[in-house]
Amino acid sequence: MVQRQLPNPAEIFELMKFKAPELDGTKRRLHAALTIADLRTIAKRRTPKAAFDYTDGAAEGELSLARARQAFQDVEFHPGILAPAPLLDTSTTVLGGPSALPFGIAPTGFTRLMQTEGEVAGAGAAAAAGIPFTLSTLGTTSIEDVKKTNPSGRNWFQLYVMREREISYGLTRRAAEAGFDTLMFTVDTPVAGARLRDKRNGFSIPPQLTLGTIINAIPRPWWWIDFLTTPKLEFASLSTTGGTVGELLDAAMDPTIGYDDLAVIREIWPGKLVVKGVQTVEDAVRLKDTHGVDGVVLSNHGGRQLDRAPIPFHLLPQVRAAVGDDFTVMIDTGIMNGADIVASVALGADFTLIGRAYLYGLMAGGRRGVDRAIEILRSEIERTMRLLGVSSLAELEPRHVTQLTRLVPMNPAVAGAVAR
Ligand SMILES: Cc1cc2nc3c(=O)[nH]c(=O)nc-3n(C[C@H](O)[C@H](O)[C@H](O)COP(=O)(O)O)c2cc1C
Repeated sequence: MVQRQLPNPAEIFELMKFKAPELDGTKRRLHAALTIADLRTIAKRRTPKAAFDYTDGAAEGELSLARARQAFQDVEFHPGILAPAPLLDTSTTVLGGPSALPFGIAPTGFTRLMQTEGEVAGAGAAAAAGIPFTLSTLGTTSIEDVKKTNPSGRNWFQLYVMREREISYGLTRRAAEAGFDTLMFTVDTPVAGARLRDKRNGFSIPPQLTLGTIINAIPRPWWWIDFLTTPKLEFASLSTTGGTVGELLDAAMDPTIGYDDLAVIREIWPGKLVVKGVQTVEDAVRLKDTHGVDGVVLSNHGGRQLDRAPIPFHLLPQVRAAVGDDFTVMIDTGIMNGADIVASVALGADFTLIGRAYLYGLMAGGRRGVDRAIEILRSEIERTMRLLGVSSLAELEPRHVTQLTRLVPMNPAVAGAVAR
């Protein structure tokens, strides 16, 4: 028999934990976001469709991006037990400098489109977190302004070598003068990928007002107020004549760039040099043997270029085995959780980059949203490491991770790079 009694008002009073309502809407929203996917949901609500789709979307059928994310979800972890780890160290050294966490911010073009604070929010949040920030050639903030925002932290510059070589060389020299320590030469963009969402949305740079965009703007007034009351949204380092991002890329990019260009860049650039967009074991090995290349980024550009490209996370163990321990291997595409980063480090990545994960934060709440994205990833990294029973990144090993694969080559003998 359950014993019953009259409710005691004092007990009820004790249970009532009403907090003063948080009047700062951004703070409230960001606090409620527990995952990067939550930030994405907020971002979608607050950002005009064309800008959100430009960020969220990928090329063609968006298979590369979906597969890359799936590959991270298909990780199986193997924790150690009874391994005392009172202290946790998430810091690392990459390309000759420190990072408080094993990830940095990837280069993204046209960042002020997502939210007006753009690169300044990214660089400021990176500075506060002690991680590197990468500015894109197609950035909307100048090299010098990024340096001002992150004066004593690590700034990296992403380079597109364009038809007009002098523009690219000039940017390289400017980044060196501003004290950027690493140049990331992106090589997966001989032509633009087919970003179908942009085409369907009629998205162009600069953004154009159509009846559709005006209707879509009604529930998103803040984005438009920012857009109309802040300096013009344009590339900081390039002049353009308008069009979709794909059209602009096609006009600027040169499908004939090759190893000769890499050699010229090596001559001009005094700091560390990494090549971004490596997608086969052979290319990673060749780059390792190329004079002056310090590392590679295994990446398919967040699925925005060649659709059905290899999954970087699947390529990682083979590349690490082929290049040995002394060559920097970084990875991006599909990272949505700190556990993805931990799994990458365990399988041999020196470092990882986040693109959309940071942009969802930016769209959800400007600088504070990027801080929140970094905080979410940090807590996921820390929790995963603790649950795995490791206290430093160096303790993470391949034995901690099994990659469960859904996609297996039909005929390994003739299949491409992934079948090795
Ligand atoms: C909106 C957007 C713009 C991007 N612009 C560039 C760019 O200008 N240069 C570049 O090398 N990569 C660019 N990327 C690719 C990122 O550097 C990175 O490889 C990719 O976002 C990683 O995948 P993730 O978004 O799943 O993290 C862009 C990605 C996004 C989402």
